[in-house]
Amino acid sequence: MAANQRLTTSTIVLILSCLCVGGPYTCHASHAQGDTIQPGQVLRSSEKLASAGGTFELGFFSLPKSNYSYLGLWYKNDPSGLVVWVGNRNNPIPGTDANLTMDADGKLKIVHGGGTPIILNSDQELLAQNSSATLTDSGNFVVTELNLDGSTKRVLWQSFDYPTDTLLPGMKLGTNFQTGQKWVLTSWISESVTAPGTFSLEWNNSNNSNGMGQLVLRLRGDVYWTSGKLDTQNRTFQNIPLLSTNSSNDYKFSYVSNENESFFNYSVTTGRITMWMVFSDGQLMDGFKSVLVPDNICYGYASYPGCAVEKPPVCRSSLENFEQRSGSFLGPAFNDQNSSVGPSDCWARCWNNCSCVGYRTFNTNDTGCSFWSGAFVEDNTVGSTKIYVLNSTSSSSADISHSTGKKWWIWVIVVGVAVLATLLLGFLLCVRRRKLKGEEERNEEDVLFELTTSNRFNDSNETGNNREKGHQVKVFSFASIMAATDNFSSENKLGQGGFGPVYKGKLHEGQEIAVKRISKGSGQGLVEFKNEIILIAKLQHMNLVRLLGCCIQGDEKMLIYEYMPNKSLDFLLFDPTKRSLLDWKKRYNIIEGIAQGLLYLHKYSRLRIIHRDLKASNILLDENMNPKISDFGMARIFGRNDVEANTNRIVGTYGYMSPEYAMDGTFSEKSDVFSFGVLILEIVSGRKNNSFYHYDHSINLIGYAWELWKDGAILKLKDSMLGDSSIRQVLICIHVGLLCVQEKAIDRPTMADVISMLTGGTMSLPDPKEPDYAQLSLKLSLKESVSQKEKSSSYCVASSSSVILSPR
Ligand SMILES: *[C@@H]1O[C@H](CO)[C@@H](O)[C@H](O)[C@H]1NC(C)=O
Ligand SMILES: *[C@@H]1O[C@H](CO)[C@@H](O)[C@H](O)[C@H]1NC(C)=O
Ligand SMILES: *[C@@H]1O[C@H](CO)[C@@H](O)[C@H](O)[C@H]1NC(C)=O
Ligand SMILES: *[C@@H]1O[C@H](CO)[C@@H](O)[C@H](O)[C@H]1NC(C)=O
Ligand SMILES: *[C@@H]1O[C@H](CO)[C@@H](O)[C@H](O)[C@H]1NC(C)=O
Ligand SMILES: *[C@@H]1O[C@H](CO)[C@@H](O)[C@H](O)[C@H]1NC(C)=O
Ligand SMILES: *[C@@H]1O[C@H](CO)[C@@H](O)[C@H](O)[C@H]1NC(C)=O
Ligand SMILES: *[C@@H]1O[C@H](CO)[C@@H](O)[C@H](O)[C@H]1NC(C)=O
Ligand SMILES: *[C@@H]1O[C@H](CO)[C@@H](O)[C@H](O)[C@H]1NC(C)=O
Ligand SMILES: *[C@@H]1O[C@H](CO)[C@@H](O)[C@H](O)[C@H]1NC(C)=O
Ligand SMILES: *[C@@H]1O[C@H](CO)[C@@H](O)[C@H](O)[C@H]1NC(C)=O
Ligand SMILES: *[C@@H]1O[C@H](CO)[C@@H](O)[C@H](O)[C@H]1NC(C)=O
Repeated sequence: MAANQRLTTSTIVLILSCLCVGGPYTCHASHAQGDTIQPGQVLRSSEKLASAGGTFELGFFSLPKSNYSYLGLWYKNDPSGLVVWVGNRNNPIPGTDANLTMDADGKLKIVHGGGTPIILNSDQELLAQNSSATLTDSGNFVVTELNLDGSTKRVLWQSFDYPTDTLLPGMKLGTNFQTGQKWVLTSWISESVTAPGTFSLEWNNSNNSNGMGQLVLRLRGDVYWTSGKLDTQNRTFQNIPLLSTNSSNDYKFSYVSNENESFFNYSVTTGRITMWMVFSDGQLMDGFKSVLVPDNICYGYASYPGCAVEKPPVCRSSLENFEQRSGSFLGPAFNDQNSSVGPSDCWARCWNNCSCVGYRTFNTNDTGCSFWSGAFVEDNTVGSTKIYVLNSTSSSSADISHSTGKKWWIWVIVVGVAVLATLLLGFLLCVRRRKLKGEEERNEEDVLFELTTSNRFNDSNETGNNREKGHQVKVFSFASIMAATDNFSSENKLGQGGFGPVYKGKLHEGQEIAVKRISKGSGQGLVEFKNEIILIAKLQHMNLVRLLGCCIQGDEKMLIYEYMPNKSLDFLLFDPTKRSLLDWKKRYNIIEGIAQGLLYLHKYSRLRIIHRDLKASNILLDENMNPKISDFGMARIFGRNDVEANTNRIVGTYGYMSPEYAMDGTFSEKSDVFSFGVLILEIVSGRKNNSFYHYDHSINLIGYAWELWKDGAILKLKDSMLGDSSIRQVLICIHVGLLCVQEKAIDRPTMADVISMLTGGTMSLPDPKEPDYAQLSLKLSLKESVSQKEKSSSYCVASSSSVILSPR
């Protein structure tokens, strides 16, 4: 009855629209009615198509946290309103002004205010004038070619052939071997982004142990869970316990496998609202939200039936999982802003990285990721950010010993942004942050104009002759930097600094430069950046690496330094063959130079810079082996207050961090003095402070030196390559080094004291107090405040806003 009536209506509409064919614009567009769209008809964004029996509805919808519209279909009476199919999942329509139309050729188009129309049936081989599109009661949106009497001639296109994340009763999951068509479900990226995301569900027709196919859930292509044996009689799958325990199970499953096609399908006998939906967190649910496969099961609970994670990380156990918590992490975040990754990608990446202990999504629409490796601080204030935190009880240092060789390609380097702030204030702030970013972009042109016209700044075009003017900073054009570094070629890469890679370059005038490419999206606003650069560039000292200028291009910021041909101190000092290049005279000169540079930084009247990350790799050597401190002022450039005395964002590198800084985040010039003391001991001994770490956790170079000092055998510390000259100077240096690494900051000398001790010599030196090396490492492992690096410096925190995890 109903079908007949529908045919009658269709026929009338068809006749009407035929009158319009050829001149659709001259006649008033008719509206789609009932369950069908005819050529020339329009379904407006406020209208819906309803299937003949009223089961399904098709129309436009939008999602929270998104300003886009989509064409979708859903059960009309589903109280949860879950969308079971999306017509334009890859092409969100900006705004809400959109119409679905069928043109005279039978093309189904979404016409919208924001760009070119989206054609739904563009894959359709044939176009036919006598087409219409009908929403059926099974939830299939079908384009058919009609005979003149309104009966169906053939099906041209159907939504069941383009499944999104949902399998409705009657839909196929599998492969058509004749057309190559694959019916696969793919989850959305997140609940606000419909594009294909992390998980996919397919039917694998290979004979498994039971001679049938099975469902396979994949995470980014890797097998994640398999359904096991399909038992059509008992209406269950081996690995879906719920189906066999639920006595009211009304499912009917079947599969077909022949030379033409192989697929799985199901139906429900009662006609209830049913949909097998793959969610972005990996859950497989049916219509009443009963869970067939729970979310995130196959990592945390590896024993769940069917879990088949292909490459499980060695450092995690089934006792661990991520739990949603409120609070924040100490230490910097690693951000990946890629909006094609969703929550479960973040979860899997964090799970697979042994030093990762927490994550959350980065963007408001739950795409992109932030990762942490520091300690988590619970915070129950309402509205604080929800973060997923590893609930492991074991210390992270235990994990780290397994971490080498893991697939850590993901963490290349991500330089964090103002994310620490964002993190504390959460989602709402996230939105605000994006607004700020927008303002920044708007201001960019103005600032660049100011940069290039300000009397303190000179464009690179007129460089060369004003280098003598001291603190002038040049703005280099991006093109000139690209040319100088040969498009940042890998041959020109000098290394990986704390804030991004460093490249060697040669300007067209022939001057050699080092370009520090600060990773994208990092740092603060342009104005502050500019101000800091001007300040930093004013610091001129023969023991500081000179900042020549900067380059700003869009998101990207670069600092241009003078080039140092002899690389960094660690490169020579810790290399068994090159170490002999550094005789005592040179080493003493280096110690003295660093001391002078540091004194200048600490004393320079207006700035009073605390370096905070002094270490051998930050000491560069010029052609005469004169030391030059690099990376100073980075804390300022990255927008932090230099006079703040306490911070919970630990900057620095293990082995060089003073106890008070590592434990409490308190820093002062005396923290730099501590690092300098470690440097002295390293320079004298030719050994890395943490090179002992490997053998005995309780002792490092400081501890070793102290033991020798106590035993009166301190000269054993001296590098055997140094010979026996200048013993007095060596002794003074070691003595000063031990004074610098004393536990209490107040006991350590200032840099001015250090210089008079080193040069004066007449002043009788106080006896050093015992350093806190043993307790420090103990406390650190208890506190887990920052993941320690193991053995060499594979991991170091270089600033609040950047971390290096070098892939190995
Ligand atoms: C949506 O658009 C409005 C107005 O243009 C804007 O204020 C809001 O931030 C947008 N929301 C998202 C999630 O992009
Ligand atoms: C949608 O259709 C209505 C009326 O049919 C029309 O007024 C409106 O401009 C159309 N919108 C677009 C984006 O084509
Ligand atoms: C389409 O309909 C026209 C009449 O409107 C008819 O003449 C023609 O044969 C039909 N074409 C097909 C392919 O059925
Ligand atoms: C999700 O958010 C990101 C970052 O704001 C944005 O680039 C992307 O277009 C958004 N995607 C959708 C579908 O809203
Ligand atoms: C899927 O089928 C192929 C053969 O068609 C087989 O080699 C493969 O192991 C199967 N994968 C799973 C996860 O069952
Ligand atoms: C699958 O199993 C059936 C029945 O056990 C058997 O006839 C068929 O050859 C098998 N196919 C493959 C590809 O192993
Ligand atoms: C169905 O379940 C019953 C009882 O659990 C079992 O005895 C029977 O073997 C099952 N049928 C099949 C085809 O596995
Ligand atoms: C496979 O397709 C061919 C041609 O379309 C048809 O003749 C044959 O009967 C089909 N086989 C099966 C098992 O459906
Ligand atoms: C699966 O599809 C086939 C062919 O379309 C159909 O004959 C069968 O009844 C369907 N099975 C179920 C359980 O709906
Ligand atoms: C069992 O199945 C019925 C319908 O099939 C459903 O309403 C009910 O929620 C299921 N029970 C559980 C525990 O999921
Ligand atoms: C971590 O969470 C998982 C799942 O929630 C649980 O099984 C495990 O016992 C928890 N471990 C700890 C140490 O709390
Ligand atoms: C973003 O993520 C997707 C999915 O993992 C990946 O295919 C793509 O290459 C990523 N894009 C970038 C720029 O990293």
